This record gives sequence, structure tokens and C-alpha cells, in this order.
Amino acid sequence: MTVPEKKGYDPFSARLGILISGRGSNLQAIIDAVSAGTLDATIAVVISSRADAQGLQRARDAGIEALSLSPRDYPDRHAYDRALADALCARGVTLVCLAGFMRLVGQPLLDAFPLRILNIHPSLLPAFPGLDAQRQALDHGVRVSGATVHLVTSELDGGPIVLQAAVPVHADDTVETLSARVLAEEHRLYPDAIRLVLEGGWTIVGRRLVRGSVS
Ligand code: GAR
Repeated sequence: MTVPEKKGYDPFSARLGILISGRGSNLQAIIDAVSAGTLDATIAVVISSRADAQGLQRARDAGIEALSLSPRDYPDRHAYDRALADALCARGVTLVCLAGFMRLVGQPLLDAFPLRILNIHPSLLPAFPGLDAQRQALDHGVRVSGATVHLVTSELDGGPIVLQAAVPVHADDTVETLSARVLAEEHRLYPDAIRLVLEGGWTIVGRRLVRGSVS
């Protein structure tokens, strides 16, 4: 019997490594989706760049291994990224999810997980990359903003887009009210995007993620 080839990953071997720096509400959304059985994956490890990240406790409460690796303990960015890659590889991680990980991902990590790193960003990219996306959106006066999940490349917030969700921006919005509206969408979007990526059957064409066969 010939087994048909399938691009993407085997969902049964999906082992997620989630990188955080703080609150971890997106991490919680992923933990909840896995526990509810709506996301067919195992969270192998959660790694924080900050020892005081609230997300570490969320992981421990869910019985997930939680580590803190501080960049301050490494001589440079590359050494830090290599340590992250080593920790993820040692746990058999097949897909890395950045969930509020407030650091640029460097080449050692990109090389260890080519097209296997996802990020969530609180704007409709390519608008408002980088820090304070919600503040940038308000300052610019846009009427619609949102959230984006994308594959991570060496370009800051610039990799192929997996999914986006839009939210309205109201005249009386503050950074807090807009962030809360965007965050509610993020929690829905990230598990959906992980599921889509794990299902396979997609290809990268130029900078686009294309689902189905490409002629
Ligand atoms: C989220 O809004 C996420 O999109 C953003 O940080 C927040 C983390 O919240 N990420 C970035 O801005 C990355 N450039 P969380 O820790 O509660 O998931």
C-alpha cells in the first residue's frame, strides 16, 4: 500500500514548546484548548525569559514543565537563542509558539525550527509591528485593528500570516480597552492557527501561506 505524502506535521506527534515573558493569557488559551480536546497536541514545555512571569505558574498549575531562562545569564543573544533551541529540542518540541515572548528571535532558534515557530501579535500586520502595537494603532487613528498569528522569520513581525482577526477601534478607546478587545480575539485565534498549521496541507508561496494544492 502506498501512503500518500502529506505536507505539514503529523498531528499525533505535535509537541508544543511555548515561549512567554509575562502574563501568559495566550498560553492559558492554548492550555485550555488542549485540555478541552479541541487542539490535538501536547505542551511539552513552557519557557519564560523572565523568572517572575505569571505564565510560569499557569503552566505549573496545568502540570506542564515550566522553565525560566534569563537572557542575562548568557554572554550574548546567540548564546541565549542556542540555549532556548537546546532546551526545546531536548524535549522533542516540533512547533514553537511565542505567546507574549518579548524578544527578537535570532538565527540559532530559526535554524533549529525552520517554519516551525509561530507568533501572535496584537495588530493587523503589516500595520504596527514591534512594541506597543495597540498604542501605535490608536495614535495612527485607525478604525479597525486586530490580531495576527504568523510564522516567524528573521524579519520582525514579518513572516507569512496564518490567521488574522479584526476588531473595531472606538472613538473613546484607551490602550487598555483596545488591548482587551484585541486580547479576546487572540485567545480564540491562537489555538485555531496552531490547529491549522498542524493539520498540514499548506505551502509557503512567496510570503503567503497557501492552503491546499498549489498549481
Ligand atoms: C499579547 O497581546 C500578545 O499579542 C503580545 O503580548 C501580549 C501577551 O499577553 N505580543 C506582542 O506584542 C509581541 N510583539 P499574554 O502574556 O497575556 O499572552
